Amino acid sequence: MKTVFSGIQPSGKLTLGNYIGAIKNFVTLQHEHHCNFVIVDMHAITVAQDPAALREQSEAVATLYIAAGIDPSKANVYMQSHLPQHAELGWLLTTLTSMGELERMTQFKDKSAGKETVGAGLFVYPSLMAADILLFNADLVPVGEDQKQHLELTRDLAGRFNHRFGEFFKLPEPYIPEVGARIMSLDDASKKMSKSNPNEGSYIALLDPPDVIRKKISRATTDSGREVKFDPANKPEVSNLIGIYSQLSGLSIAEVEQRYEGQMYGPFKKDLAEVIVSVLEPLQQRYHEIRQSGEIREILRQGAERAEAVAAKNLKEIQHLMGFLPRG
Ligand code: TYM
Repeated sequence: MKTVFSGIQPSGKLTLGNYIGAIKNFVTLQHEHHCNFVIVDMHAITVAQDPAALREQSEAVATLYIAAGIDPSKANVYMQSHLPQHAELGWLLTTLTSMGELERMTQFKDKSAGKETVGAGLFVYPSLMAADILLFNADLVPVGEDQKQHLELTRDLAGRFNHRFGEFFKLPEPYIPEVGARIMSLDDASKKMSKSNPNEGSYIALLDPPDVIRKKISRATTDSGREVKFDPANKPEVSNLIGIYSQLSGLSIAEVEQRYEGQMYGPFKKDLAEVIVSVLEPLQQRYHEIRQSGEIREILRQGAERAEAVAAKNLKEIQHLMGFLPRG
């Protein structure tokens, strides 16, 4: 049995990219491993958040986890800010991280590009992410492709700590799906699907009503060809849609291609919309039930309590190895 850790920022609406790249794999992994699935609110505040919106989004993301099938009796679901150990270990690891490493992070480069002032929190974001994972000495981190570089830094920090202070951390492995690790925008297949894109037509939000989903898929960009063929280099838009179809239907890429052989994009897109609706409609129903029941706060409380027992024990050992005097 392995230890699994992953998190999602409550910084906007979650998209189909978050679902396929991350949440769907959380649900699979919970059956075999010790899992921690966290709402990383302290990462979200590295860009300005409206406090009321942050509270609402935090509850929404936690509820979406459960609605998507995460079982809170199997996995610890909690708010990052409820465990002070995340920030504490974040600081310890920041002292082991070099400026050059942080400057090389592509997420930092993207998020800071063109900004007049850039918060220091955005810069040290990767050290806090490393702390999230290492606090539990996680073996496996299910994420989308865009988090790979942060995972590499986490491994480097773990190795550096072990070298300087004695073996403690395992080197966590990314768990990245082969297809679906990078779901692209519906209007531009050179960009990843993202909740921060101002064009709402570019992404499917997990709470988009079925008719909105149908409309967005019917308007999704394709190409001037007519073959439903998976060829990311030459047909990036259609390949992205086939990837989504395959991930949500359980059919292989080849099976999807076969099903639409000799057909044009119209019927394929129509069916794709129904495949998406068949996954998201029941999820949305559960979402609204859970929100109404008010049970999420108690789920988060219990998750934090269980996780904190492990986090506090690990942090104490890490502090000891680094040479901190015990409080007595
Ligand atoms: P965040 O909140 O941006 O995204 C959450 C997860 O969704 C994945 N994802 C995608 N996967 C496929 N296609 C897409 N278009 C797509 N968009 C997003 C992300 O890769 C991610 O897995 N730094 C992290 C949050 C974090 C974290 C952690 C993750 C903080 N601490 C510890 C793992 C472990 C982030 O910004 O994710």
